[in-house]
Amino acid sequence: MAQRKVLVTGHKGYIGPHVVRLLKEAGYWVTACDVDLFSASQIDEVVQPDLELIKDFRNLTVRDLEGYDTVIHLAAISNDPMGDLNKDITYQINREGSIYLAQLALKAGVRKFLFSSSCSIYGKAGDVALDESAVFNPQTAYAISKVAVEDSLRTLANDHFSPCYLRNSTAYGLSPYFRIDLVVNNLLACALAKGSIRIMSDGSPWRPLIHCKDIARAFVLFTDAPVALIHNKAVNIGANTENYQVRGIADMIQEFVPNAQIVFTGEVGSDSRDYQVNFNLLYALFPHFQLEYTLKTGIEELYNKLQAINFSLADFESDRFVRLKLLQKNLHKIIK
Ligand SMILES: NC(=O)c1ccc[n+]([C@@H]2O[C@H](COP(=O)([O-])OP(=O)(O)OC[C@H]3O[C@@H](n4cnc5c(N)ncnc54)[C@H](O)[C@@H]3O)[C@@H](O)[C@H]2O)c1
Repeated sequence: MAQRKVLVTGHKGYIGPHVVRLLKEAGYWVTACDVDLFSASQIDEVVQPDLELIKDFRNLTVRDLEGYDTVIHLAAISNDPMGDLNKDITYQINREGSIYLAQLALKAGVRKFLFSSSCSIYGKAGDVALDESAVFNPQTAYAISKVAVEDSLRTLANDHFSPCYLRNSTAYGLSPYFRIDLVVNNLLACALAKGSIRIMSDGSPWRPLIHCKDIARAFVLFTDAPVALIHNKAVNIGANTENYQVRGIADMIQEFVPNAQIVFTGEVGSDSRDYQVNFNLLYALFPHFQLEYTLKTGIEELYNKLQAINFSLADFESDRFVRLKLLQKNLHKIIK
């Protein structure tokens, strides 16, 4: 049988290197496309794809996508503060760009289009864990763009083209392209670098969390899956046991860094997300799938790595691991 081919966008980001490595290990031919905004954040070796395209995915053509079974679309302006910095870029890349890419994939005869959506589309909710049928309550340009792409891609689905929407929990943990602008990584890095765990709220908001490698494992799972199982489906990616309140995360980090004091700064900032998520559909579709990490084992792995590289106050305060700061330096690569 011919080797199956997958095209991944955003492989030089936080989640992407895990996706490329796992796809290669599973025997896929992998092409990967990234405009290279964040490679200054590299702390570990990466597995190279078979073909690497360093370019804006919005410049891909139908021809570039011919012959692929699956497109895994990760590339995006990937967090809420960046959306606040420049809403237009978020909409141009995350919304218009993603819809354009899906249309190319459809024309090129690609069978599956796996879109990296986000649980942040649920935004703010009460105490009930939300499943895929919940009403959206997106709080930011980033989350609004994810809703818009899901809605548009649904209209493209047909007997030959299966888009699918992986609504990922908030990621954390070790990746070759590290970032500290995600809640768990930020609190742990702050504990090690500053000796304090600074929570920008009263610690009560809930978040569903997942290790970045487990997100990558889910993408490979969907790549392997029969089309009929996942056709045009939105699926929350995470686990029911992995919804945490921010103060619970802080307590867990304090177990690893006992001298670090927990400080509640009380600012809510622009981030008003507060929601719990139900993941029953994922496990109904894939009864054998399990996350490799719990929050505790993920923190332990990251703690060991940050200790090994002597992660310092200078690292914490540098631009290297903060997407917003790197993006500001590299805006010229994506302004059209
Ligand atoms: N990290 C999370 O907590 C999380 C949670 C849910 C969903 N997601 C989604 O998963 C995807 C990957 O997230 P991540 O954390 O790896 O993000 P990231 O910001 O670390 O990586 C995104 C990558 O996309 C690239 N990129 C951006 N615009 C591009 C363009 N126009 N052309 C080509 N490449 C471009 C960047 O250079 C970067 O390498 C994103 O779509 C994100 O919205 C992430």
